[in-house]
Amino acid sequence: MGKENLLEVRRLKKYFSTAAGQLHAVDDVSFEIAKGETLGVVGESGCGKSTLGRAVLRLHEPTSGEVLFDGKNILDYGKAEMKALKRDMQLIFQDPFSSLNPRMTVSQSIALPLTIQGVYKKKEKEALNKKVREMMDLVGLAQRFVNSYPHELDGGRRQRIGIARALALNPRFIVCDEPVSALDVSIQAQILNLMQDLQRDMGLTYMFITHDLSVVKHLADKIMVMYLGMVVEHCDVKQLFAKPLHPYTKALLSAIPVPDPDVEMDRIILKGEISSPIDPKPGCRFAGRCIYATEACHGKDIPLTETEPGHYTACIRVKEIN
Ligand SMILES: Nc1ncnc2c1ncn2[C@@H]1O[C@H](COP(=O)(O)OP(=O)(O)O)[C@@H](O)[C@H]1O
Ligand code: SF4
Ligand SMILES: [Mg+2]
Repeated sequence: MGKENLLEVRRLKKYFSTAAGQLHAVDDVSFEIAKGETLGVVGESGCGKSTLGRAVLRLHEPTSGEVLFDGKNILDYGKAEMKALKRDMQLIFQDPFSSLNPRMTVSQSIALPLTIQGVYKKKEKEALNKKVREMMDLVGLAQRFVNSYPHELDGGRRQRIGIARALALNPRFIVCDEPVSALDVSIQAQILNLMQDLQRDMGLTYMFITHDLSVVKHLADKIMVMYLGMVVEHCDVKQLFAKPLHPYTKALLSAIPVPDPDVEMDRIILKGEISSPIDPKPGCRFAGRCIYATEACHGKDIPLTETEPGHYTACIRVKEIN
């Protein structure tokens, strides 16, 4: 029996109107995330990861498609229902510095969602302070920082505020948008461990966005690889690392340094131009950089198909080249 899905996204599109035409930032993306699991979303900068995360939360209004949360399409929700849904769905940003108000102390920042949502009334100051201190303990932020300002803290501690703020309302689903990409490598591991512990203890479901595949190797259950707004490969994390099938995923994986010098890995250097996401022509969007590209790769879109059980790829030559 499969696990129950918390989130189901169907044929989601987000186009931006630009002077040059329609920019297809997210183009017909479908996936689901089971309760308590993590979907890793990977791909190069500009491939649409953040737009997808924001469209799922309706921070960008999707152009079309469906976002089912607990089986209900939230794109049909009105204002009041969306406000209530904020308790369940949250976002952790790459750089909390830009999302934190520089004039707010740690305690004010963590308290903000709790007061906006009316969890605590004005006169319940003491209870609110207690909750803020509990949240600081939960994310490993020492109490001595309670009245500090963001600029007085290092990146790791700032990200702990971002996490505390996202968790304050006890959500069930969190979009984590490159939450460790701005941090030193040593601090990255601490924050990733914290996020894993919190997931286990609070039963959280994550959509974890990163340009760095190695970050999600130990964290994700499933991985979705994006290229220019579309999904090119989608499967279990173990399948992806053991046997990547799409030429683009192979190139991404080959760029990860291998710690064991006895393991030989041919590095695939991607050449050629990334094509434009503005009014893209039909055909494989990776064709301009793909060493296996042939005539047949152009002209019509390449659908995501189940190449092996549970392993989906969008490449018409996948059988020949693997
Ligand atoms: N508000 C916006 N208006 C117009 N284009 C945007 C906007 N936000 C993102 N884009 C474009 O959408 C594409 C995907 O961007 P983004 O989702 O930020 O990618 P990623 O997070 O993978 O780096 C890019 O081409 C980017 O320039
Ligand atoms: S469809 Fe063609 S261009 Fe696209 S990844 Fe496969 S071989 Fe390369
Ligand atoms: Mg991004």
